[in-house]
Parts: sequence; structure tokens; C-alpha cells
Amino acid sequence: MSSNTPLLDVSGLTKHFPVKGGFPIRRTIGAVQAVDGLDFQVAEGESLGLVGESGCGKSTTGRLITRLMEPTDGKISYRGQDITHATRKQLAPVRSEIQMIFQDPYASLNPRQTVGKIIAGPMEINEINPAGGREKRVRELLEIVGLNPEHYNRFPHEFSGGQRQRIGVARALALQPKLIVADEPVSALDVSIQAQVVNLLQKVQRDLGIAFVFIAHDLAVVRHFSQRVAVMYLGKIVEIADRDDLYGNPRHPYTRALLSAVPEATVEETPARERIRLQGDVPSPINPPSGCRFRTRCWKATEKCASEAPPLVQVEGNKAGHLTACHYPETAETVPAPRLAKDSEPAA
Ligand SMILES: Nc1ncnc2c1ncn2[C@@H]1O[C@H](COP(=O)(O)OP(=O)(O)OP(=O)(O)O)[C@@H](O)[C@H]1O
Ligand code: SF4
Ligand SMILES: [Mg+2]
Repeated sequence: MSSNTPLLDVSGLTKHFPVKGGFPIRRTIGAVQAVDGLDFQVAEGESLGLVGESGCGKSTTGRLITRLMEPTDGKISYRGQDITHATRKQLAPVRSEIQMIFQDPYASLNPRQTVGKIIAGPMEINEINPAGGREKRVRELLEIVGLNPEHYNRFPHEFSGGQRQRIGVARALALQPKLIVADEPVSALDVSIQAQVVNLLQKVQRDLGIAFVFIAHDLAVVRHFSQRVAVMYLGKIVEIADRDDLYGNPRHPYTRALLSAVPEATVEETPARERIRLQGDVPSPINPPSGCRFRTRCWKATEKCASEAPPLVQVEGNKAGHLTACHYPETAETVPAPRLAKDSEPAA
């Protein structure tokens, strides 16, 4: 692998779920366009944040790149190797390098297994015997994630939510991965615990050089964690940029709206901080709007937005690597139009 080959390279990634209907013979009558043509890269050791409202396709993207799900279209390369349709056997060496951490630390740990067994699980499945034995490695992992190595024989219910997520992190680290997809790893935790787990992940990223795709609902969480951030809307990336460019110079109206909902303290330098409350609901991914998918909620939509899908490109005024999919990108001076109800109440 040459030094500029990204660790993960995704192009045109698409997942459509068939919708069945009809009587007496059920047939495919449509498709949920959950993920619709994503292009992005993740460099070695880098953290990419993936942000968007519920149902925009974040988890599906995570499951596609960890190959828990087959894509409908597109290509996934890992270290330059095309793994899009690799078989279980072909995937084996790569599987251990790509791990996933899930949102719910309760559901993702087997309640009948000891912590030692849970963390050693991936080593057993992959028949890996580290020097000094699996138990020694498990104790090391417990220590890395800030748990007492003596608690090897305890069961998940004996731990708090935050500690359980630490167990999930230890399990993900067992095979020395190069890439971790973390799907809302702190959303289910108490706010007071969230920062501790984010700090742990940050430490893991830094000390062990592991790349992350960090999935989150809002821009506040990923701000402290991700060097680059992609914003998704209805199965598409609408904006992607280095952290400072995205938070300091949001060009897509949707990014702007999401940022306006982030608590003041975390985005102090963002221009025009009026709160934008988006009108209406997210349209169905079965029948997404023509042209720009955001147009039904955008205060600047024109006929062009309905007829032409805006490409994800470096629009004028963006730095290199900052891509925006909008015909009329925001500027620092753009003030949200009056059609949008601006929220005068303090952010809850
Ligand atoms: N197995 C499936 N079969 C059919 N539709 C699915 C399936 N999985 C997801 N979807 C649909 O695909 C779309 C994207 O779902 P996904 O779970 O990826 O969104 P998300 O961004 O992770 O949402 P959330 O923030 O709620 O976790 C949704 O409309 C969802 O209902
Ligand atoms: S392309 Fe048009 S509808 Fe879409 S975000 Fe830009 S201005 Fe709004
Ligand atoms: Mg999800």
C-alpha cells in the first residue's frame, strides 16, 4: 500500500432495501433508498464523524463498511483492496482489522458470559493466541479501557452503563484493529458519563493510532473527536470538511441548521448563530424529493433545486477538501430567511 492510499475508500456506496407489497402475490413495489451514492475516504489513524438526523442512513453506512451488510452498488476498498463483495474467507484477514462498537452497551454484551470470555471472544473466533495467553491479554485490555483487571470473572450486570461500554471498547480492541466504526457509542449513556467514554475513545485513537468512523446525531459530540466531519441527509452526504472548516464556515443550509442547534459553548466562533428550526419532517427515503433532497425543508429552494441534484463539490470559497452539495451555498453573511421560524427561546 502506498503512503497516500487511504485506509478506507468508499465510492458510490448504495443500499436500497426492497419494499414488498401486493396481494395475493407479494412483489417488490419500491425501495428504501437508505444510502444513495456515498463517496468518502478515511486515512490511517484519522477520525471521520458521520452526522445526521434519525433515518438518514448512518447505521446502514456503518454496517456496509464493516461488511455486516451487502451493498446494492458502489465500491469499498480497504488498504487498496476491493472488499465490496469479498467472501467470508477472503475477508477473514481484514475482518479483524475493522471492528464495530454499538450504541447499546446493554444489548451488545452476552449477559451469561463473564467479561473475560466476552473480551476474549474475538480472539477465540479468529484463533488468535497472543504471547502470554488470552487471559493476560484480556487483563491488559481491561486496564487500557480503565477497568480493574481483577474484574475478569464478573458479569455484565455487575457494571454500570459507562463501564459496559468500556467492555465493548475492550472487545473491539482485542484484535488490534486499524479501523473502528462506532455507531452512536455514547447516545445511550448518561450525559455525565458520555465525556468519559469519548475521552477513552480519543485516547485509543491517539495512543494506538486507530482510525474511527464516529456516528452521531448531532454535531456537538463529534466536534471534540473527529478531525473531519461528514453531514448526511436522506442517504446522501451533503457536506464534508475538516472540522474547523465545517464548524467555522458551514456552506450547506442543512449543516447550518444543525449547527444552530448545537449548544452555544461548543461552537462559539460559528457565524450568525440564530437558531434555525427546520420546518416539516424528513421526507420518506422510499420516495425522496427530486433534485436536492433537502429542498422540501430549505428556505432557499428554487426550481433548479427541484430539477437538478447538486453535486458534492468544492464550491467557491471552500478550502481544499471541503465539499458541499448545494446550488446556492451559504456564506458568512447569509442570514436565514424569514420563512423559517427562528427560535427566540433559549436553546433547551
Ligand atoms: N433492514 C432494513 N430493511 C428496510 N429498511 C431499513 C433497514 N434498515 C434500515 N432501514 C431504513 O433505512 C433508512 C436508514 O436507516 P439507518 O438505520 O441507517 O438510519 P440512521 O441514520 O442510523 O438512523 P438513527 O439515527 O435512528 O439510528 C431508514 O429509513 C430505515 O427505516
Ligand atoms: S440545492 Fe437548493 S434546496 Fe438544496 S440545499 Fe441548496 S439551496 Fe437548498
Ligand atoms: Mg442508527
